[in-house]
Amino acid sequence: MTKLRFLITAGPTQEPIDPVRYLSNYSSGKMGYALAEAALQKGHHVTLISGPTSLVKPTKAHVIPVTTALEMHRAVMKHYRKADVIIKTAAVADYRPVKQAKQKIKKSKKGITLKLVRNPDILFELGTRKHKNQILVGFAAETRQIHRNALHKLKKKNCDWIVLNNVARKGIGFGSDYNKVFLLSQKGRMIPLPRMTKKNLASKIINVILT
Ligand code: PMT
Repeated sequence: MTKLRFLITAGPTQEPIDPVRYLSNYSSGKMGYALAEAALQKGHHVTLISGPTSLVKPTKAHVIPVTTALEMHRAVMKHYRKADVIIKTAAVADYRPVKQAKQKIKKSKKGITLKLVRNPDILFELGTRKHKNQILVGFAAETRQIHRNALHKLKKKNCDWIVLNNVARKGIGFGSDYNKVFLLSQKGRMIPLPRMTKKNLASKIINVILT
């Protein structure tokens, strides 16, 4: 068996507002870590770029901890060239506050307005740069028109596969130990995978994308 080099991103990013607050999302990192463990178990090399999580780091992976989307972007751009398979499981914040306040923002009677600026779309950038033999896998976290939106992401971001999960459903997706996904390929394949543990699902996802 050929040992492949996997680059996997996992977890949320945190976008600081001031020294005590940030913008983020509900990603626990479980799906991305399960993929890293599954790839290691199948004998591959893994670089895991991880947003802040409370999970135990897979000891055999090269783990690169990051906090913000800009840090994740920098780390991915540094490591993607050597990867055979790139899986973007991380829930990257699309926006960050324009400025991080140096001091804690004090309460006032009036509301406040946070001005946000777009973060780089790391997966889109990978889609424009990927080389011929790389397999690029994105995730799509959708709440409505899920197939239509995921197909749009698959094409726009030039992925080979997109893993679609309906994050509006209870008991799967963000934070859960379970997930239920559809795998959509650039070549028009659509593979539904039933609800199962993220651990089992990770192994199946890797088997599908490597065939
Ligand atoms: O971490 P868990 O609690 O286990 O939850 C798993 C999960 C729900 C986070 C995971 O299954 C999942 O859906 N991950 C993708 C979350 C997401 O950000 O989806 P999206 O549809 O907004 O983004 C589409 C793709 O673009 C993703 O591969 C994402 O990593 C990537 N992206 C998004 C924004 C951005 N600025 N840069 C990116 O690379």
